[in-house]
Amino acid sequence: MNLKILKFVVTFLLLFNFQEISAEEKSLEKPRIGILTSGGDCSGLNAIIYSAVRRAEQLGYQVVGFKYGVHGIIKEEYETISTDNIDRDMLSKCGTILHASTKVLTDKNGRQISTDEGDQKVIETYHKLNLNGLIYIGGDGSTKVMKKLTDKDPSLNIVSIPKTIDNDISNTDQAVGFSTAVKVATSAIEKIIDTAKSHSRIMVIEVMGRAAGYIALYAGLAVGADAILLPEFEVNLDSLKKHITDIKNKKNYAIVIVSEAVSFKDHEYTTQQLSDTISRTYYKGVAEYIKNYLKTDFPDTRSCVLGHIQRGGKTSFEDRIIATQFGNEAINCIHKNDTNVLLGIQNGKTIKTKLKDIKQTTRKLHNDDPMIKLAIDQGIFVNH
Ligand code: F6P
Repeated sequence: MNLKILKFVVTFLLLFNFQEISAEEKSLEKPRIGILTSGGDCSGLNAIIYSAVRRAEQLGYQVVGFKYGVHGIIKEEYETISTDNIDRDMLSKCGTILHASTKVLTDKNGRQISTDEGDQKVIETYHKLNLNGLIYIGGDGSTKVMKKLTDKDPSLNIVSIPKTIDNDISNTDQAVGFSTAVKVATSAIEKIIDTAKSHSRIMVIEVMGRAAGYIALYAGLAVGADAILLPEFEVNLDSLKKHITDIKNKKNYAIVIVSEAVSFKDHEYTTQQLSDTISRTYYKGVAEYIKNYLKTDFPDTRSCVLGHIQRGGKTSFEDRIIATQFGNEAINCIHKNDTNVLLGIQNGKTIKTKLKDIKQTTRKLHNDDPMIKLAIDQGIFVNH
């Protein structure tokens, strides 16, 4: 380089205080979209995050992930997520890199706060961080919270994505997490069937689902159970025992799948338990109760609770696909300013429902459900 050009470059740098912009500074210039995983976890959450980040980067956005769901917005705990720090294994890996929490709301100092204070803080943080949109991956309770938040501040741009193993969210055929939970439950029940056959036992197997019987029904059908007990309708224990007696007269063992929140026609028993550490009730013990009831006639009956294994497991291909559809569509919605919606899947395509138009946030099985009819046609005992 000759001396004249060198002098010019040095003068230019000194005059304009030119510095190279770091990658971090560059990324701060990009419009930001927030994302969080609310409530209990399930398989498929990481797949949603992965898909959202990939689409966001295509459209020139930066994604910030809040830790421990809404707690992360309240406490301003977040991190930037980019394809530099995540990889395709997110598609199959269960859990959530953003962590999850069902604990009661607290502020930065650990003081318990009301839901109104929490809402206020979410709105403040959203504006403080200058977010262009927020992707809220949650259950039916989250849809309610998002409806309330967007009523309080219509300038928020929220896209809700339905996830739960319970599959009890309205306005979608399926929630992320359900398919993997059924896959995991099915494979666990098959292992229990092996031992039931060897010992000629009745096995009563409790699955999760809260007030919705989708896991029990789908896993029960998938393993060809002898009885499926759903929480939507009361169970007549005497009729169940009669059915199991008939089965035992034909083959040496029987499989009863019971959803954790069932209730009984002729017996008083509550499975619902209160908790002071989490913000909702939980269920416990119904398989054991039914086992004790059947034991009077079949002493070798056993119970088994599948529990939280249903929330893990390598994400099924079906959950990966809908998670990818949801993550992608959520970014498209924010980009097009078509927000304050709940995403859903209908006949394989993504659909959107305006949060303000949602009357009922939960859904349950109806007794005319085609899968209930299928189970009955197959000779399975189903309370309906
Ligand atoms: O809602 C999902 C779910 O797994 C339910 O099926 C179950 O009743 C509950 O969460 C368990 O919650 P926790 O992880 O707080 O015990």
